[in-house]
Amino acid sequence: VEKLARTKVAIDPLLARRWSPRAFSSRQPGADHVDSLLEAARWAPSCFNAQPWRFVVARADEPERHARVASLLSDKNRRWAAAAPVLMVTIARRDFDNGKPNAYAWHDVGLAMGNLLTQATSLGLVVHQMAGFDKDRARVELALPDGYDPVAMVAIGFPGDPAELPDDLREREAAPRVRKPLDELVLRVPSP
Ligand SMILES: Cc1cc2nc3c(=O)[nH]c(=O)nc-3n(C[C@H](O)[C@H](O)[C@H](O)COP(=O)(O)O)c2cc1C
Repeated sequence: VEKLARTKVAIDPLLARRWSPRAFSSRQPGADHVDSLLEAARWAPSCFNAQPWRFVVARADEPERHARVASLLSDKNRRWAAAAPVLMVTIARRDFDNGKPNAYAWHDVGLAMGNLLTQATSLGLVVHQMAGFDKDRARVELALPDGYDPVAMVAIGFPGDPAELPDDLREREAAPRVRKPLDELVLRVPSP
């Protein structure tokens, strides 16, 4: 399935091609694919170069670990995301090395994810991020130290066949991608 963004002006095809599908192929991305995604994330910019992002990666070829991470998903997300051959949990380190709070930690985890998304698209992989998971249980299951917050879960794999999805999800898979118009997003500096 291709769901190219219908843009008003041209943007890079890697950005236009990215979308968040629910159908994943059972084909396991190689370790080199996953390494390439994480390397792209590593080179994101961050406030004071603190690099507050951390990643927990679970691959379907380690079924016990994969199932444990999949168990963190909300019921709604687990219906489709448990079939993704790579699951990730993104983590933010709350404080800088000097102990001061890093107000940009989650922002910068998002930047790292932005890099990961673009790299994934360039490798022919698809990625679907999720807020719907049990953060409290993630802290326990993933043995997160104090000062680290689970941010999002991420389903990664090669594109699958939407025909294999349950009816309601297949419909959503075909729905057009929509965005707010730019004039709603760009605010004018108030006149003096
Ligand atoms: C932080 C974050 C959390 C999200 N949580 C969920 C989720 O729990 N379940 C889901 O199906 N999609 C989730 N999404 C996917 C969004 O719904 C999706 O990115 C948005 O509708 C735009 O569609 P597109 O990515 O295909 O352009 C999430 C996306 C982000 C960035």
